[in-house]
Amino acid sequence: MTEREHDDSTSRRNAIERIARWVLAIAGGAVTVPYLFLPKLRSASVLRIENPELRVRPFLLTSTNDGNIIVFRDDAGEQPSYTALSLRCSHANCTVRYIHDESKFVCPCHGGAFRKDGSVLQAPPKEPLQSIPVIQSGDGSLYLRID
Ligand code: FES
Repeated sequence: MTEREHDDSTSRRNAIERIARWVLAIAGGAVTVPYLFLPKLRSASVLRIENPELRVRPFLLTSTNDGNIIVFRDDAGEQPSYTALSLRCSHANCTVRYIHDESKFVCPCHGGAFRKDGSVLQAPPKEPLQSIPVIQSGDGSLYLRID
């Protein structure tokens, strides 16, 4: 190999290495930047409920790493619809209890209460129960996004 051929080979290798570094930097940034700037995506988890028509009758209590959840089924329309609420009290994070006969939630810690839709019925809570987004997939399963 002549000295000129060696120089060409070295500069080609350096160019390829530089391009590879840029590609890795851009790819890494594409993954990392949204992760850093969208903390909601980082902390969200998804819960899947299969066969909700059988399991949500008329409600389903379930727990996740992020707390307890209640899912309601509403049969008023042609197709059942589903809503979900966190059972974490908005006052000081105690777990509320659902009283089906009265369609309300009560909190054992300071006597707060919420309506079935999660709105405040009785202080001290000032904010409603957290609503959990529910999406029904084509196979009928429910997906709940928990932040
Ligand atoms: S924590 Fe629920 S009323 Fe205080």
